[in-house]
Amino acid sequence: MEKQVLFTIFGATGDLASRKLYPSLFRLFKRGELAENFAVIGTARRPWTDDYYREIVLASISSLSNDKRQAELFTNHFYYQSHDVSDSGHYATLKVLGEKLASQYQTRGNQIFFLAMAPRFFGNIAQHLKSEKVLTGKGFERIVIEKPFGESLSTATELNDSLRQVFDESQIFRIDHYLGKEMIQSVSAVRFANPIFEALWSNQYIDNIQITFAEAIGVEDRGGYYDGSGALKDMIQNHVLQVLSLLAMEKPVKFDGDSILAEKVKALQAIRKYSHEEAKESFIRGQYVSAKFDGQDFIGYRSEPKVAEDSRTETFVAGKFLIDNERWAGVPFYVRSGKRLTEKGTRINVVFKNESNPLFENVQQNVLTIYIQPTEGFSLTVNGKQAGSGFEIDPLRLAFRHDAEYFGNSPEAYETLFLDALNGNSMNFSHWEEAKRAWELIDVVREAWDSDSSELPEYPAGSMGPIASFKLLEKDGRSWNWKPDEWYRKRG
Ligand code: BG6
Repeated sequence: MEKQVLFTIFGATGDLASRKLYPSLFRLFKRGELAENFAVIGTARRPWTDDYYREIVLASISSLSNDKRQAELFTNHFYYQSHDVSDSGHYATLKVLGEKLASQYQTRGNQIFFLAMAPRFFGNIAQHLKSEKVLTGKGFERIVIEKPFGESLSTATELNDSLRQVFDESQIFRIDHYLGKEMIQSVSAVRFANPIFEALWSNQYIDNIQITFAEAIGVEDRGGYYDGSGALKDMIQNHVLQVLSLLAMEKPVKFDGDSILAEKVKALQAIRKYSHEEAKESFIRGQYVSAKFDGQDFIGYRSEPKVAEDSRTETFVAGKFLIDNERWAGVPFYVRSGKRLTEKGTRINVVFKNESNPLFENVQQNVLTIYIQPTEGFSLTVNGKQAGSGFEIDPLRLAFRHDAEYFGNSPEAYETLFLDALNGNSMNFSHWEEAKRAWELIDVVREAWDSDSSELPEYPAGSMGPIASFKLLEKDGRSWNWKPDEWYRKRG
């Protein structure tokens, strides 16, 4: 059904707005979720006009429609207001424009503020929205914010406190765009709609779980941000721990935001918080160095633009989380994420136990793989009989490609998340209790590393990370289970 709402996008001239926000809003427009009664105010420092802004929006959606008229109908809902986030006067202007558009488009006072800016501005913006009465209390008022949510437990708490002076937790939508991805949302379906998996989902049958977030790209033009962050804060604190909690949580009483949140938080609380010594044992890091890969020369991380020449920022992390509860005692959750790896691939491997088999040799562990991206789907490795005479066991893969079955129908993560925010559904957003616990777990690792001045492990661009990542599993008698990792297993 058509939504009535005024969006205000802070950071409207930025890359995220053009790459993700405008195309997602346009998809919702094409689906009829947005039609007549919506308007968008874009704000940023640059002195753009409405016309120029609309051209930018138009360009950002050019690949999504051949229908020029439809695209123009959409962009006619966009208005631009140049804005300095710390200047109270500008909020007064914003308020006047907002009220005018609210009456012109009959948005019923509903407002969504999207903060696509550096988090240091979030508190300031929220305070001004309140003090300058941009918030009117007439309709629903929600604030959607991008990661990172703080840089540590203490900065995140500060940020949260300043937002909570203005907004209730139920009005705050912290984006973790992975939660908007189709296949992440499928994790709960796989677990709770299939008795065959639900029955096996514990330390009785599962040996270990592996979560890989591999990226082929380097830091691109984000060196300025990334060098102050690193893979641990950029990926593990948010995306990876979110996915881990979905895999580890108990069955929620109902399939709704509050019930799922309650279970995710319990799972996160049960993750063992390491001592600094344990953190050093259980987490390793690395930084990519220049290498030739696939016929191309790649520069090392330290030569990337806006990265310090002597940077000690990690571009790769691998670690082991342990969950101290009845279901998961003794099952390691191995996670890893890195840039400039062999290929892009986000996937989860659930590796089942393999007791010694009196009948057959060469029986492999059953592995359920959930492919998040770029391939979307599932596979299950089972043992079958090799065709022909004799009785050799061969691993077979039962595979389902989601993207082949539902070709072109998987919505974009931001499209799903926008719609959820419009509906007030917080199921796919990160809650403060989750962010807080994730920081508690991550801060320990960060502190352990910061107190360690030894040489930072390197890995060549195009590899699957430093050797230490493989050793981490090897010392537990296990190995990463993905094709690009085979070079390590095969290296004589
Ligand atoms: C972002 C990180 O949150 O996720 C980036 O800041 C990373 O460093 C990106 O590249 C990966 O997202 P996706 O959807 O491209 O896998």
